[in-house]
Amino acid sequence: MPPAYELLLRQGRLLHSTGTIETVDIAIAAGRIAAIAPHLEAEAQLELDLNGKLISPPFVESHVHLDSALTVGQPRWNESGTLFEGIEIWRERKQDLSLEDVKTRAIETLKQQAMQGVLYVRSHADVSEANLVALQALLEVREAVKDWTTLQVVAFPQDGIYGSPQNERLMETALQMGADVVGGIPHYELTREDGVKSIHRIFELAQQYDRLIDIHCDEIDDDNSRFLEVVAACAIRTGMGSRVTASHTTAFGSYNNAYAYKLLGFLRRTQMNFIANPLINITLQGRTDTYPKRRGLTRVKELWQQGTNVSLGHDCVQDCWYSLGTGNMLDVAFMLVHVAQMTGRAEIDACYDMITWHGAKTLNLSEQYGIEVGKPANLIVLDASDRYDAIRRRATVRYVISRGKLLASTETPTLDWKLGKI
Ligand code: FE2
Repeated sequence: MPPAYELLLRQGRLLHSTGTIETVDIAIAAGRIAAIAPHLEAEAQLELDLNGKLISPPFVESHVHLDSALTVGQPRWNESGTLFEGIEIWRERKQDLSLEDVKTRAIETLKQQAMQGVLYVRSHADVSEANLVALQALLEVREAVKDWTTLQVVAFPQDGIYGSPQNERLMETALQMGADVVGGIPHYELTREDGVKSIHRIFELAQQYDRLIDIHCDEIDDDNSRFLEVVAACAIRTGMGSRVTASHTTAFGSYNNAYAYKLLGFLRRTQMNFIANPLINITLQGRTDTYPKRRGLTRVKELWQQGTNVSLGHDCVQDCWYSLGTGNMLDVAFMLVHVAQMTGRAEIDACYDMITWHGAKTLNLSEQYGIEVGKPANLIVLDASDRYDAIRRRATVRYVISRGKLLASTETPTLDWKLGKI
């Protein structure tokens, strides 16, 4: 009798982290990958013939704000398109937050993401609001969705740790309540000194509560915004390196080259992670420029070339900072190819890695992520031949397998040409 599995994937093309692809059968039992081989003599409760479609580990959304997702136009549209008008609008909208409001929108967004292959998500929760409603809601969502997706929650002080007298206390309360990651926004603190002080406080809290760090850092075109060097220095001195992430760092795109190259050398020593959010960076930054107009993206290509870990986020899904988007990480990678001018073949492939393996590294998922025998059976099947093809066509995610079960399937649109032969 051949072994009976719960799920059997037949003849898919398995993408490895090295970029090689091999045609295999994959058997799944008890939520884990039980066997991988060119051909398995086996039976299963459900068998899917993949017919050469690409099997990949799930997409990783490294940076999103689920608490503000799906609120576009509430209470008003962001007409200037700037980060700072967005913060003003959010300050008004968050007066009306309720647990139910945040949870409903967050779960809706997580479903949209999951059906498009995203099964690991790091979301920021605004903790500069007196009742910590957004944080409490996202912690409850983390629990509610854990059977089909993995959510990390960042305690994010949107208005600055020192922007209001109670904010520092709220940050610490958020960690005591169970936030996974300590956040920050040094460039939005009232003074340069407050910004530096906030970074030291973030590292103290992360060490005290044994948490990861993910700081919104230098999200501005100001070439004098240089908090990244402070984060790097703290990462080197504490040895926290790989547990530290700098998000956005858009000012890095405006630094003079002499300073930027010195900084790249320091960053190589830190083992820190970077997150770029190309959809948002290209729309929010450069708003005060006339022409030439800056792209407002951090130096993704140079960081990648020197081996620094870079992953990507959608950042906003239909909110006061970005009215568009569906949570599709292939859209994010596609935009990065353009904005960072990463059009070389290896560069396009690297953009795919930034929404998969590199994201897993940023989120510190190493032991559970990847398609290997014994690991949790989380994987996606794309209607694509390889990484380049997946990004080029923003390919349909045909099947999403989560915890060993078929979570979602989507039909690929097909063309029904009506004019006959040309
Ligand atoms: Fe953000």
